[in-house]
Amino acid sequence: MSEATITIRAEETQGTISPYLHGHFAEHLGRCCYDGVWVGTDSPIPNKGGFRTDILDALREVGVPILRWPGGCFADTYHWKDGIGAPEKRPRTLAESCGLRVLEDNALGTHEFLALCREIGAEPYLAGNVGSGSPQELAEWIEYCNTSLPTTLAQQRAANGHPDPMTVKYWGVGNENWGCGGNYAPEDYAKEYRRFATFARMADPTTQLIACGHNNRDWNLKVVETLRNNLGLLDHLSVHQYYKAGSGTDFDEEEHYRLMRAGDLIDEGIAFTDEILRFFTAGRKKVKIAFDEWGAWHPEAVGGCGYEMPCTQRDAVSGAGVLDVFHRWADSLSMTNIAQIVNVLQAPIQTQGDKMWLTPTYYLFLLYKPHRGAEAVRVEVESAARDTQELDFLKPGSLPMVSATASRKEGRLTVSVSNRHAQEPCEVTLNLHGDAFREGTLHTLAADAPNAYNSAEQPNRVGVTRTTLNASGTTLTLTVPPCAVVTAEV
Ligand code: AHR
Repeated sequence: MSEATITIRAEETQGTISPYLHGHFAEHLGRCCYDGVWVGTDSPIPNKGGFRTDILDALREVGVPILRWPGGCFADTYHWKDGIGAPEKRPRTLAESCGLRVLEDNALGTHEFLALCREIGAEPYLAGNVGSGSPQELAEWIEYCNTSLPTTLAQQRAANGHPDPMTVKYWGVGNENWGCGGNYAPEDYAKEYRRFATFARMADPTTQLIACGHNNRDWNLKVVETLRNNLGLLDHLSVHQYYKAGSGTDFDEEEHYRLMRAGDLIDEGIAFTDEILRFFTAGRKKVKIAFDEWGAWHPEAVGGCGYEMPCTQRDAVSGAGVLDVFHRWADSLSMTNIAQIVNVLQAPIQTQGDKMWLTPTYYLFLLYKPHRGAEAVRVEVESAARDTQELDFLKPGSLPMVSATASRKEGRLTVSVSNRHAQEPCEVTLNLHGDAFREGTLHTLAADAPNAYNSAEQPNRVGVTRTTLNASGTTLTLTVPPCAVVTAEV
């Protein structure tokens, strides 16, 4: 058994953990939307307005603070007018999904997506089309959704069932425009952004506009530098990062730890982006980072299989480290969105026919739910560390065997601890400064092996157990199983 000590400085708060730091992403890609969360109103699978009721229930339970849609790369091919009006009259268009040409029948459009958000209590975040769209198209989408004036588009919205404005606040101006979103050079994208954002702002000055950033320093530098005198148009910069190490289910010990380290390295992309934003905004405006795609992307998740992969306990434990990083950067991040909400990549929910199951990543978000809206407090972790070797983009470095985050809200302290060790449990001593423990609940997400996952055949192989904590005083000792995450609510 290894040992670790975590000092929690309850009196040293580090900013509010916005619920949006636990956001999600739904793209028209593979079986995320169609044959995922959406089955259509004619489906024999129980649904509400076309959305699977079992998924709606699971999403309500875990909570989806913000949901990004319709892409992803799909966003820069999407023409929103194709997805409104009578479904049978909507155009049937050619779409690209996971490297394949597929038919998009536009059954899931703006009204349906916003109905989903209302059902699950999510803030909508719509990603606009820069690559193959126009400033006017984006401005009209905003007008259609948000105007309270009786314009022709607003009347069309009313005729389509929504007389009141739909008040969509968050708008992405393109997606990955350095790649699938048009292969722009950074300066060219920034100039396009300025044009699109000017007319988006005119359509609704209250929108929050999100520019396309990168996990590449040079892109962010050039985009933000070009926009430095147009800060009125820039509210957030989007960054994406995926990571892998070995296959999703077949990995050796070194690869096990590399995945954790790859997740921890998300910190670097945030750090340099934050530095660039601070430099070019120099106290004039707080432009935040929207980390709106992240997660494990294993080699099994390839085009032909719809970017689907088993989502293991290892993925959830590496994800815990990433959420800990996000909490530490609570002041600089406006949102984060794991990719993707159903079936695709590191999905919290997976389906096969009428079967639906929850992955360890779903349970990770459930364990972290009490942190939402809470004040992050400083934690100091002392644990064994392991050297990880260089691989692709992954720099060699030291991986702490334990990661943690803590927050307080309404007299309650929540501490989440992950033990990254593949085989050994860890005895973790929590030392609390500035308060005392009282009794509470311990939630444990553990599995029989790091590569364990849930499936149609074994939907409950990995899950959460809950026990009562009889705590008092300023010290609490927990035994965290190998490759596991615990949350103590005390
Ligand atoms: O999430 C899958 C894809 O990954 C998205 O469409 C794109 O934005 C990213 O490259």
